[in-house]
Amino acid sequence: MSKKIFSGVQPSGNLHLGNYLGAIKNFVELQNEKNTECVYCIVDLHAITVKQDPKELRKNIKETLAAFIASGLNEKKSIIFNQSSVPAHSEGAWILSCVARMGWLNRMTQFKEKAGKDKEKASVGLYAYPVLMASDILLYDSTHVPVGNDQKQHLELCRDIAQRFNNDFEAPNFLKVPEPLIQKSFSRIMSLKDGTKKMSKSDPSDLSRINLTDDKDKIINKIKKAKTDTLPMPSSEENLENRPEVKNLLEIYSSLLNQSVEKSKIEFSGKNFSDFKEKLFNLLVEKIEPISREIKKLLDNEKYLDEILLKGSEKANEIASKKILEIKKIIGF
Ligand code: TYM
Repeated sequence: MSKKIFSGVQPSGNLHLGNYLGAIKNFVELQNEKNTECVYCIVDLHAITVKQDPKELRKNIKETLAAFIASGLNEKKSIIFNQSSVPAHSEGAWILSCVARMGWLNRMTQFKEKAGKDKEKASVGLYAYPVLMASDILLYDSTHVPVGNDQKQHLELCRDIAQRFNNDFEAPNFLKVPEPLIQKSFSRIMSLKDGTKKMSKSDPSDLSRINLTDDKDKIINKIKKAKTDTLPMPSSEENLENRPEVKNLLEIYSSLLNQSVEKSKIEFSGKNFSDFKEKLFNLLVEKIEPISREIKKLLDNEKYLDEILLKGSEKANEIASKKILEIKKIIGF
């Protein structure tokens, strides 16, 4: 059976190593698998759940697209488009919000984190955001959704919504219940300054993350300044739960090389941090700097980027508009 892949990334600026290792690197690997159809979406409707400057948003949509292409996505192999250009996503979100239950959404931990203490002031969109995500996924009959661990709960909600729709409207198997694809070697890439916080585009400190647009000097500087501890590198058997920064750096190193953390531990067991950091920044420069250079080059070619989105949107529209029509028929419109 062929796999249908769908995933999305918000165009909110500062795409970072967490987005790359947690998601985009897997997008590229899946794109190159046999019998696999991939749809990758720049989720601009999700971005406006928090305040955006229109000029910045426009720029960030292009930058996210450039990061996709620079990382190895190919518009001839995958459908690449931006969410707001396919109206079925918003229509589907409304319909599915009448299927989803308040109690389900109230459990979403990301809303609690993002809304913070003053949740009365959060937008309704931020609360309903996982329903839009379900619409994205379900419109394409997606079988698999590659995401970072922080999106796992949203995927479970999507599965619940699909099952509830199929039951309520007596349409067995109509909405396909997707499987999450979450890589196993780490759960999240964490901040370089605090190993207990996830690496995030909204962290005020730029030193907390490696951006996909960072040049060689920035990458080296950020790894040199990354927090560690006073002990030597761990022995191969050491449990790293109490050394979150060290665990994170070893996981970054291992996933860049597609090797197990166990193997990396053996490589550096008992050595100095400076040796390890040097290997790590050299590896990061080797993998990330070409992406960074390519992003800058692509951003100078706006016409090319616009064309990719236009063609991608046409293809996405063809699939999604058919599915939304079927959905409307089923519910009695
Ligand atoms: P977003 O834009 O926050 O993140 C994009 C992808 O990057 C992953 N990610 C991470 N992985 C590991 N470590 C980190 N520190 C880290 N930070 C981010 C995220 O898990 C995600 O896979 N709601 C989604 C976008 C979305 C979507 C969808 C995803 C909208 N519709 C449909 C899948 C299917 C989001 O805000 O991701």
